[in-house]
Amino acid sequence: MGAKVFTVGNFKGGVGKTKIVTMLAYDNAAIRNKKTLVLDLDPQGNASQVLAKTSNIERIDRTITDAISSGDLKSCITPVMTNLDLVACNTSFRSFSRFVLTNFKSELDQISVISKLLEPIKAEYDAIFIDVPPTISEFSDNAMAASDYSIIAFQTQEESLDGVSKYVGYQNFMVDRYNISLQVIAIVACMIEPDDNLDQTILSEAREIYGDAVLDTVITYQKRLKRYSREGIYLQKNKNGKFDQWDYRAHDNFIKILSELDARDSFLTSDS
Ligand SMILES: Nc1ncnc2c1ncn2[C@@H]1O[C@H](COP(=O)(O)OP(=O)(O)OP(=O)(O)O)[C@@H](O)[C@H]1O
Ligand SMILES: [Mg+2]
Repeated sequence: MGAKVFTVGNFKGGVGKTKIVTMLAYDNAAIRNKKTLVLDLDPQGNASQVLAKTSNIERIDRTITDAISSGDLKSCITPVMTNLDLVACNTSFRSFSRFVLTNFKSELDQISVISKLLEPIKAEYDAIFIDVPPTISEFSDNAMAASDYSIIAFQTQEESLDGVSKYVGYQNFMVDRYNISLQVIAIVACMIEPDDNLDQTILSEAREIYGDAVLDTVITYQKRLKRYSREGIYLQKNKNGKFDQWDYRAHDNFIKILSELDARDSFLTSDS
């Protein structure tokens, strides 16, 4: 059994996709001791920067762009910490679309580049989380074709809920057109302010439209989570051996989401 591959998406920017990828990956590795890979397919390189800071990595020599040109992903893996690896990305990956269009004639080959690169290393991981830019592009098409599951992130704003429906619509189109096996495993509300009425209204609206697909766990807005983007992710313990309460609160949402994903995966893959 190879890794389960998850892409975190929404065609709306700034909704919390990279936060989910990096936190789920960190907690899957650090708390659950699962072998985890983050594959950054966003030329903004936000996930790569956060994970590099997490382990004080100063330079990353080989990125996904090298993997594409050499056909070898394994040599482009950067170890981040125990159980957590990264295939990093930077602005050089902007050329991916051109590369794909000039090198492959068939549409199916064009969307299967990443999936083929991942295949030989899947057996080494329990989970692979892919971060993508908020656009319909070769990046997102390739991520979808390489994934078992999508996690759709949304913020409680009308545009971002529209983004969920566009994402689901586009995913259905991809599944039909290319016969890929990809399912929405979760829709996750991000940056929720528990006391904000509008947030609660839009969250209820999302649950009405998408039912159980919306996870019970919501990701609340927390300054500590914002700070991890700048400083890297950490989970500190006090002298008494207990987790720092602000760190624990920041990680707790994501640990719960990992359990919900596990339960859903077991259900979706059980013989019924
Ligand atoms: N739960 C949260 N609490 C506080 N800040 C958050 C939270 N989630 C995300 N942020 C902050 O919001 C900003 C946008 O988040 P993020 O980069 O994850 O969004 P994104 O969807 O990946 O954006 P893009 O579409 O540009 O890739 C970042 O500055 C991040 O630190
Ligand atoms: Mg992002």
